[in-house]
Amino acid sequence: MKARCFAILALLTANLQAADDTRQLVSLPAAAEANLRAEMRANLRAVNEILELVAAGKLAEAGQVAEKQMGLGAMGKYRSEPFAARPGPHLPAAMHAIGMDGHRAADEFARIAATGDRERTVAALPSLTVACVACHHAYRIR
Ligand code: HEC
Repeated sequence: MKARCFAILALLTANLQAADDTRQLVSLPAAAEANLRAEMRANLRAVNEILELVAAGKLAEAGQVAEKQMGLGAMGKYRSEPFAARPGPHLPAAMHAIGMDGHRAADEFARIAATGDRERTVAALPSLTVACVACHHAYRIR
C-alpha cells in the first residue's frame, strides 16, 4: 500500500516537472544536433580552462582561450558542411541572438584580460556564462 502511494507520488511529481518545463522545443536535423552538442562540450571545456588560467594568474592566456574558443571568430566552424549539419541556420532568430551575445561577451572578456588587470578580469568572469544560462533556460532540443 505504502509502496503504491510512493509510486503514484513519483508519477505526479514527474508530470508536474514536465508541465513546469516552459523551454521552447527547437527541432534540429540529427547532424546539426550532433555538431551543436560537440560545440557545447567544447564551450564547457573552454570555460573550465579559463577559470583555471585566471586562478593561476595567467590572464593573457585566459583571454586567448576565450577569444579563440568562444569569441565571434569561433563562429562558422561548420560553414563548409552540408546545410543539415550546420546548427546556426536551424536556430530561431532569438535563440541565435543569445548565442551571438555569448560570442561578443567572450571577445569583451578577452579584451579585458589582455590588459592584465586581475580585478577587472575576475569581475568579468560571470559574463562568460550569462548566455549559457539564458539559452539553456529558454530552449531545449528534445
Ligand atoms: C544559443 C543557445 C545556447 C547557448 C548560448 C549555449 N548553449 Fe549549451 N546547449 C544548448 C542546447 C539547445 C543544448 C541541448 C539541450 C537539450 O538537450 O535539449 C545545449 C547543451 C549543452 C551541453 C550538453 C552537451 C551534450 O553533449 O549533450 C553542455 C555541456 C552545454 N550546452 C554547455 C554550454 C556552455 C558552457 C555554454 C556557454 C559558454 C552554452 N552551453 C551556451 C544551447 C545553448
